[in-house]
Amino acid sequence: MCSPHAGGVSDTLAGNFAAGLVDAGCPADCIALRDHPVIPCTGCAACARPPHACVFAPRDAAEWLFARFAEAPLVVLASPIFFYALPAHFKAWIDRGQRFWAALQGSQGPEPVSLPPRDKPVLALLAAGRPQGEELFSGALRTLRWFLPLLGAQLADSRCFRGLDRVEDVEKRPEDLKAMREWAHAWARRLPATQSRTGPQCP
Ligand SMILES: Cc1cc2nc3c(=O)[nH]c(=O)nc-3n(C[C@H](O)[C@H](O)[C@H](O)COP(=O)(O)O)c2cc1C
Repeated sequence: MCSPHAGGVSDTLAGNFAAGLVDAGCPADCIALRDHPVIPCTGCAACARPPHACVFAPRDAAEWLFARFAEAPLVVLASPIFFYALPAHFKAWIDRGQRFWAALQGSQGPEPVSLPPRDKPVLALLAAGRPQGEELFSGALRTLRWFLPLLGAQLADSRCFRGLDRVEDVEKRPEDLKAMREWAHAWARRLPATQSRTGPQCP
């Protein structure tokens, strides 16, 4: 849950998807990014040198969040659109992924960087207030497509919702909520049984 707004639209979408997983016997762990401090990258380039660590790592939750991401067999990122982009705190965490890029560059020398296998599926649930706008989600999706491969992941699918400004707007679209639950059921079936039965329950 990547919005600064607790209990808002994207939290509601995330909760609905998580409930769909749980219906299908697959535990879901919901993490609110806003509860975990992430210091924005300053571009100091310390991570360009071995051991490619971030100077802020001991002081915030960015590495803890990367570790949780790595553990999960499926990651769903639910976020609002703010000014045609991802919200600042979410982007701050993404920018901290620069250390992965720096490590790949450092290990591969002057050759073009080759990325690790993209084994982990990631889904995006994006919500925007405007009902129109051809490019409303383009920036956010492009950021995710470039960031996720650094974590050995890829954007496997997404659902982009327009015209959702308040939770009441979501409640007026039961067909979308139902379709999202069915989507969650389908993903639950694709997860290996050993993985889908481990991990903490969604609160
Ligand atoms: C700072 C800010 C910027 C926003 N920018 C846009 C925007 O560019 N386009 C849009 O359609 N909605 C925009 N919205 C509306 C949100 O995307 C919308 O209300 C969303 O449902 C909020 O989800 P949340 O409750 O999970 O935070 C913006 C809202 C805020 C607070």
